[in-house]
Amino acid sequence: MPKVSFVNEKQDIEVEVGANLRAEARKAGIAIHGTVMSFLNPVTNVLNCRGNGLCGTCRVLVKKGMENLSPKTTIEKIHLAAHPETRLVSIGQEEEIRLACQVKVQGDCTIETHPQLNWHGENFWQKPYPNK
Ligand code: FES
Repeated sequence: MPKVSFVNEKQDIEVEVGANLRAEARKAGIAIHGTVMSFLNPVTNVLNCRGNGLCGTCRVLVKKGMENLSPKTTIEKIHLAAHPETRLVSIGQEEEIRLACQVKVQGDCTIETHPQLNWHGENFWQKPYPNK
């Protein structure tokens, strides 16, 4: 069975192959929902889109094991490209940000819940087109 490690919560869970990441996290008592305004996190754990890929509050950063997760769904790709908060959080880590509700776990992975804006990261302030 695949192992999912949640770094912030320091918790590992075992899930069935093909299990939904959001559902398994919630089952394990992990508060998966959040925003960059962390004081709203308890609210987002109640008020969210229920796994339909619309609200973005189940956004996670995949630290390891992206190859063991299902490919991005169409709704996830649209959300990642269009949602303002998700786009800001994704800067410099575009490939590693996923919506947990859209992810099926196929193997071991390491997940960071509630990824924040990376204001001080080397990629945040770079020119979008460095060679132009
Ligand atoms: S629960 Fe709303 S986007 Fe995943």
